[in-house]
Amino acid sequence: MAAELSPIDKAKFVAAKRAVDFVQNGMRLGLGTGSTAAWMVRCLGERIKEEGLRVTGVPTSTRTAELARQVGVPIVSLDEAKWLDLTIDGADEFDPNLNLIKGGGAALLQEKIVATASDQMIVISDAGKEVAQLGAFPLPVEVIPFGWQTTKALIEETLVAMDVLNRDCSLRMNGDAPLVTDEANYIIDLHLNRIGNPRQLAMVLNQIPGVVENGLFIDICDIVIVGHGDGRVSVRDINSGEKAEERVEFAPSDNIFADLGD
Ligand code: 5RP
Repeated sequence: MAAELSPIDKAKFVAAKRAVDFVQNGMRLGLGTGSTAAWMVRCLGERIKEEGLRVTGVPTSTRTAELARQVGVPIVSLDEAKWLDLTIDGADEFDPNLNLIKGGGAALLQEKIVATASDQMIVISDAGKEVAQLGAFPLPVEVIPFGWQTTKALIEETLVAMDVLNRDCSLRMNGDAPLVTDEANYIIDLHLNRIGNPRQLAMVLNQIPGVVENGLFIDICDIVIVGHGDGRVSVRDINSGEKAEERVEFAPSDNIFADLGD
């Protein structure tokens, strides 16, 4: 079954599997959203089943909650958990300082709240998400539906004074209708190509009325694990400055690969 995976899925899988090694008994975990995070939830379910690992998960989307239930990861709300030991999530881009763009899967709001409420955040990724400078991936900004066109115009006006290459903004669609997030908001994608000062942009965007949150995660990620299709993983810890090159055994049970939805 594993042989049927594409190299990119193998890369995501090995990154996720290595990240789940960081999980210890009794931990309260933030469960990210997206195709890479879905591998992590599966791997976690496998450890719960095989080893009797005891953990509690806080999902960052309805999709992740559904998958967690399917694979036997107990979940609670963030208000029940209050504070988390570790969040494991994917990203759309990460830079050398481990600052991130997230929200390609429209879950940035819950993802940011959950990651911020965690002692530690591990990002799992394939090598394609590593960039010298953020911005090639459109930056998602979650806005309330009321007056969204005015909010978009204010964002565009604000971008004039920012260190960015382009300033095109587009409402994210789901077919013919605006995409609606789990928190019943819209997403405006900012096509900037290059973000010169991500910290400044993140702060300025959140000052605009109508903006709920932006997809820049600044100083939130502690460790990034990059997987490769041949089983190699690199583990980089921004706090200790350590970087390790490792290999993950690619011998998952068939169960891990059954009906992966995300
Ligand atoms: C969802 C996210 C995801 O983590 C991000 O889009 C990466 O997704 P994938 O692992 O499918 O590439 O931020 O809002």
